Amino acid sequence: MKNLLITGAAGFIGSNFVHHMLAKYPGYKLVVFDKLTYAGRLENLKAAEGNPQFAFVRGDICDRAAVDGAIREHAIDTIVHFAAESHVDQSIHSPLVFTEANVTGTQVLLEAARQNKLERFHHISTDEVYGAIPAPNRSKEGDAFEPRSPYSASKAAAEHLVYAYHITYGLATTITRGSNNIGPFHYPEKAVPLFTTNAIDDLPLPIYGDGKQMRDYQYVGDHCEGIDLVLHKGVLGEAYNVGTGVETYNIDMAHKILAILGKPTSLITHVADRVGHDRRYALDVSKLKALGWVPRHTFDQALEATVKWFVENEWWWRPIKSGEFKAWYDKNYAAR
Ligand code: NAD
Ligand code: TYD
Repeated sequence: MKNLLITGAAGFIGSNFVHHMLAKYPGYKLVVFDKLTYAGRLENLKAAEGNPQFAFVRGDICDRAAVDGAIREHAIDTIVHFAAESHVDQSIHSPLVFTEANVTGTQVLLEAARQNKLERFHHISTDEVYGAIPAPNRSKEGDAFEPRSPYSASKAAAEHLVYAYHITYGLATTITRGSNNIGPFHYPEKAVPLFTTNAIDDLPLPIYGDGKQMRDYQYVGDHCEGIDLVLHKGVLGEAYNVGTGVETYNIDMAHKILAILGKPTSLITHVADRVGHDRRYALDVSKLKALGWVPRHTFDQALEATVKWFVENEWWWRPIKSGEFKAWYDKNYAAR
């Protein structure tokens, strides 16, 4: 493992992963391959610019020729696959885009990995493939998939293809299933950055339904360390859950953001629920912990660090919120 093609790393988690890997592995070359959709932002990779270990290629994972070109030009031996359409609400409005990027795109990369005889393919998946988990259950890696949104269904389909390439062609694959990430460069369509930036501007925090849905919000840096560990020590053909193993109600998360910012609770506004909203995700993370992984942040620490980053980096999110994001915001929230 020396030359890594990291797909989708102009986005939130992938860019954090690039910064983590650049700091930790001076001998690796990291080539970001990204289409730059609305969620892909070169600003996220600014700190890597000029680093001789780093290169950026603009391309679509569904474009086999472009993928092959990047693999050959940079003598790639490993793919770490983050690229995806990632927002559940967007998947409810435009589901086919998700199948194209998340399913077809993954298979194009698997084909490229197989035919170029790459050493390794690591796939980034999500806890949402397990579906809604009633308390007190926790999802283990061997559990059945019951995805319930177009987003999670496309991620589950992608995982099945990754496994099929491992079994059928002997491709050296691993998979991580992360819970909800929070931290720097998080596009403000997602709950935590939306609530934080709205609160900073004294705008309402739109809570879907009763706000009693539960998520395991983990710090993005901890997730990146988990991916790094599985990449280096994971068993081929296996999947690993990555999360804190602690869930929080959305309404409590919103109250904590307001408390950190010293804003009034009157900003909380209940709006119409998401259709098919998964009430709870909960992971058993003992398999990854057995490899030596420990999350460094509790939920409170992760949320504090995240809110602080948004307070200190208005240069990053203000242009997004006043620009193209506004059309999405109006479409998604006006009817609520
Ligand atoms: P994001 O939306 O912030 O970034 C996605 C990136 O993929 C963007 O840079 C975008 O330009 C790129 N992309 C999309 N379609 C592409 C295509 N066809 N070709 C090339 N690039 C393309 O997403 P994220 O939150 O960083 O998520 C990254 C990965 O992690 C996804 O696979 C997602 O399913 C998974 N995941 C996310 C979370 C989370 O909490 N955000 C949790 C678990 C797993
Ligand atoms: P989100 O960040 O979209 O992640 P996911 O749906 O993949 O878990 O949403 C996190 C939780 O917050 C989820 O239960 C939906 C809820 N939510 C709201 O209550 N209001 C919002 O405006 C958004 C975007 C999400």
